[in-house]
Amino acid sequence: MELSQIFAAFQQDALAAISSATTAEAIEQVRIEFLGKKQGKLKDLQSNLSKVPPEQRPEVGKRFNEVKDAVTYALEERQQQLIKTKVVASAIDVTLPGVRPLTGKLHPLTQTINEFQEIMSRFGFEVEDGPEIEDEYHNFVALNIPDDHPARDPLDNFYLATAGVAGAGIAGAGGGPRLLRSQTSTIQIRTMENRKPPIRIVSVGRVYRPDEIDDTHHLMFHQMEGLMVGPDVTMASLKTVLRLFAAAYLGEDVHVRFRPSFFPFTEPSVEFDVQRGDGWLELGGAGMVDPNVLRAVGYDPDEVSGFAFGLGIARFCMMRHGIKNIRHFYSNDLRFLQQF
Ligand code: FA5
Repeated sequence: MELSQIFAAFQQDALAAISSATTAEAIEQVRIEFLGKKQGKLKDLQSNLSKVPPEQRPEVGKRFNEVKDAVTYALEERQQQLIKTKVVASAIDVTLPGVRPLTGKLHPLTQTINEFQEIMSRFGFEVEDGPEIEDEYHNFVALNIPDDHPARDPLDNFYLATAGVAGAGIAGAGGGPRLLRSQTSTIQIRTMENRKPPIRIVSVGRVYRPDEIDDTHHLMFHQMEGLMVGPDVTMASLKTVLRLFAAAYLGEDVHVRFRPSFFPFTEPSVEFDVQRGDGWLELGGAGMVDPNVLRAVGYDPDEVSGFAFGLGIARFCMMRHGIKNIRHFYSNDLRFLQQF
């Protein structure tokens, strides 16, 4: 075989091996095979040069260098390509499972509130809203809670330091001390002031009391107030609505009981309990709207009657999920919140 053919064959073989190498290790093998300083095929090729007659050497030497440069260039280029591929491949492993993005959820109390409103809307109750900062008229006076009633004790309420600042931009009639509402029953008054019977509303929101914190009590908690006023509203209507509500949220097999109680704004009054294990958990207070309250908002107690109830939202949620401690709802621990 002529020398020029040997050179061409070498170049062809080397370029074919280079382009078929697919890993950094393979291209290194190709380099050793063809360009290796000790036993590479280029070395063999070079040994032919000494046999060439002197007058042909410049020509053959030039051809040798061309072949060597072409192969070296192709090899280095392929090496670079394979190194890049390796870096990219190690940075993104497309076979790994994806990272699940963290998604937010509604707080369990918000979920409970939404469900309460949905259940009550099925019973024909609309949703009302009202201020958390109240005046004494709506929190006490209109609710038939006299001046000397223990519920009005400043130590049992959160009065605001702005008390008595007239026109402080807080909702309510006239000036006078302001407080964080201690019950959602304020909404009964605000609704009846603005509307004529028949009325069927619920209102959900935060209330505030300096109670001692324990497993079922907190300083700030949520209540759902219900109010129904019309010509024929009776205690039987109240018991039916509460029983149906408890069954809708806690299940058909729920056991409820009504205990005689006292609230200044209802007569008669009851407390509403649900069976929990061997005992009972108090979930709310209720009763027939007191005639004094109806008169305070300009209704005639001889023409209309009404019932009202106030339920502890967290306590219902605790009943459904077997939660023993109300503090969980307010401590923002993700291990708790993520379970809902
Ligand atoms: C009232 O607040 C009355 N306004 C309820 C009412 C409305 C009666 C309409 C008649 C007519 P009481 O203070 O019992 O009542 O509270 C009602 C419910 O709120 C309780 O049964 C309980 O479920 C919940 N609750 C009361 N105090 C706390 C507290 N500190 N922490 C968590 N939940 C509470």
